[in-house]
Amino acid sequence: YKGYEFIIDEKYVAHIGDKATGIRILTSIEPKGWTQGPVTATITIKSNNGISKVEPDEGSKNGNEYIITKENIEATAKEAADVWAQGGLVAFPTETVYGLGGNGLNKEASKKIYAAKGRPSDNPLILHIADMEQFYPLIKTDNAKIIARAEALADVFWPGPLTMILPKADNIPYETTGGLDTVAIRMPSHLVARALLQECKMPIAAPSANLSGRPSPTSASHVIEDMNGRIEMIIDGGDVGIGVESTIIDLTGEVPMLLRPGFVTPEMLQQVLGTVETDAAVYRQVGKDVHPKAPGMKYRHYAPKASMVLVEGAQDKVITYINEEAKKKREQGLRIGIMATDESKELYKADVVISVGSRISMDSVAHNLFRDFDEENVDFIYSESFDTSGCGFAVMNRLLKAAGHQVVKL
Ligand code: TXA
Ligand code: MG
Repeated sequence: YKGYEFIIDEKYVAHIGDKATGIRILTSIEPKGWTQGPVTATITIKSNNGISKVEPDEGSKNGNEYIITKENIEATAKEAADVWAQGGLVAFPTETVYGLGGNGLNKEASKKIYAAKGRPSDNPLILHIADMEQFYPLIKTDNAKIIARAEALADVFWPGPLTMILPKADNIPYETTGGLDTVAIRMPSHLVARALLQECKMPIAAPSANLSGRPSPTSASHVIEDMNGRIEMIIDGGDVGIGVESTIIDLTGEVPMLLRPGFVTPEMLQQVLGTVETDAAVYRQVGKDVHPKAPGMKYRHYAPKASMVLVEGAQDKVITYINEEAKKKREQGLRIGIMATDESKELYKADVVISVGSRISMDSVAHNLFRDFDEENVDFIYSESFDTSGCGFAVMNRLLKAAGHQVVKL
């Protein structure tokens, strides 16, 4: 497996990621257990990252898993490219969340994206590209430092879950950038996204494929819930790998500025760029009169239908507090949901207790946020808090936004 990333999670499942193609292979490892040093293991490889239209092709389905075949990926990419060439919209998987794509150079397509999402048109879109050849025509700057920084980041993190904000070229319509002179660009690594982008040869504007104000979709069924009948095509590529949206970094200023935390952490960015600052809107709610750098920051994104409170403090205190509050609220006839972890799940009493995963693996937590609660019709959600190291920074950012920054500190 030379050249592959090899991560083993707490269920002893190996995630072998090929950075170049975005293929994620799930395997079972024998013998089970943590080992130090080299390990000899029997590995069965199954692809979990298949592609298919909503109805999988006959023979392309193996149990509940889709299998990628060269034939169906090529045919689907051609079909999607046709829709995009005609100004239509296609939802597709990326390694972070599902995107809702349209031709980013066509202002009518961008308008359609805003309409399909019910999104305010001052909230700009990210352009998705296949390679660096597509990158240069999208930016316009004489500042060599900006280009050098973008190239250094691209070298390390592209294709992958990082979005860069840069001065925009003239041919990008203001409909795509929400009226800004800057543009957001990202080169996704997901195999399906790459196949589509290589085929269509245009920069694809794609916000997350949810209705505005709903959580970002991590599976095709989420996209179908929100978008069915509103767009031309939905591509099912199975569950996505990461589950939180890409990290956004603004390179237009003197000092690179983190606008949205994601899988690529500030520490990882600092290793490439040196100093990186973090926009204030990442930490707190900004007032209506303030214009945050990423316009999306001012909207109450990523919100479950129920209102939500985050509880911070020592584990035992948090559990006692949440149980007491849940009891009071249930006596008033309210349905209560609790966002727990594998470690604490059994200790709560409420109408719905959902574990978002184990504290050992923040990646699994990032993947499981929010969605389940919407199906449970709860009135109120209490959530535990997380350490902000690694992916935890992105998780806490999304939780705080979902909770409208309502936090109880014990
Ligand atoms: O992982 C992702 O980035 C996903 C997948 C589909 O690629 N896309 C995504 O897009 O999350 P969206 O539209 O849901 O979020 C884009 C964010 C918004 O908060 C927007 O305000 C910000 O990027 N943004 C876009 N263009 C910008 C610009 N020129 N300057 C500052 N912020 C920008
Ligand atoms: Mg979004």
